[in-house]
Amino acid sequence: MTLPIMTDTGPVMEFSGVSKIYPLASGNVTALLDISLQVLPGEFIAIMGPSGSGKSTLLNMMGCLDVPSKGEVYIRGRSIRSLSDDQQTTLRRDELGFIFQQFNLIPLLNALENVRYPLILKNGMTASRERCQEVLAAVGLVPTLWYHRPTQLSGGQQQRVAIARALVNDPAILLCDEPTGNLDTKTGQAIMALLEQLCHDEGKTIIMVTHDPRTAEYADRVIQIEDGRIREEV
Ligand SMILES: Nc1ncnc2c1ncn2[C@@H]1O[C@H](COP(=O)(O)OP(=O)(O)OP(=O)(O)O)[C@@H](O)[C@H]1O
Ligand SMILES: [Mg+2]
Repeated sequence: MTLPIMTDTGPVMEFSGVSKIYPLASGNVTALLDISLQVLPGEFIAIMGPSGSGKSTLLNMMGCLDVPSKGEVYIRGRSIRSLSDDQQTTLRRDELGFIFQQFNLIPLLNALENVRYPLILKNGMTASRERCQEVLAAVGLVPTLWYHRPTQLSGGQQQRVAIARALVNDPAILLCDEPTGNLDTKTGQAIMALLEQLCHDEGKTIIMVTHDPRTAEYADRVIQIEDGRIREEV
């Protein structure tokens, strides 16, 4: 499934007047209201705000996991509304990497197989094991751990595997929802240093939701969300 040509100049992510309304029997819930923003290539953005303010809804929309009720979302110049379901799946697989608080690794697969999984979805069973080893080494997981299952790894090690899995298809954009939320302070700092390095050395664009002001300090720019609106940009 091919995607429309992307634009290499201009924002990698753009929201234009985006609202998200959930119609419930008890009344409409406005999760996002008239959000407009632009993220430039290579930026490291933190999204902060109180619980229920719309951060995950915003990130889901950036990840093409949800569509706006109003307004337009453009990913690398293409309106997600204009893409078919198959094209959206291809976009998620090839251009976006997802990292979550709960790591979300597949329990029955070892570290190497977890990283290889998205590569198999892209290239079939010929997916290169060498590529997975290269990425696992790049995130700092020692080879003796590559054949461990998630339950045989610490939280920090599992998050390194999850980052390797997000990187294996070489996406332009990494979307992270509380990536250090389940880690102790020291391990969280090591993970943030890794994300910062990916952004600055490899030119990845990183958009990260966090509650923690110390985690947000790694970002170049903070977007504050309150009641579904952008409050201020620092
Ligand atoms: N599928 C849904 N149906 C109805 N309402 C929803 C749905 N998903 C989210 N909401 C509502 O939208 C608002 C924003 O939710 P969201 O999950 O984006 O908040 P958040 O900022 O990520 O919160 P947290 O920090 O607790 O993760 C909340 O009021 C929530 O109850
Ligand atoms: Mg959330």
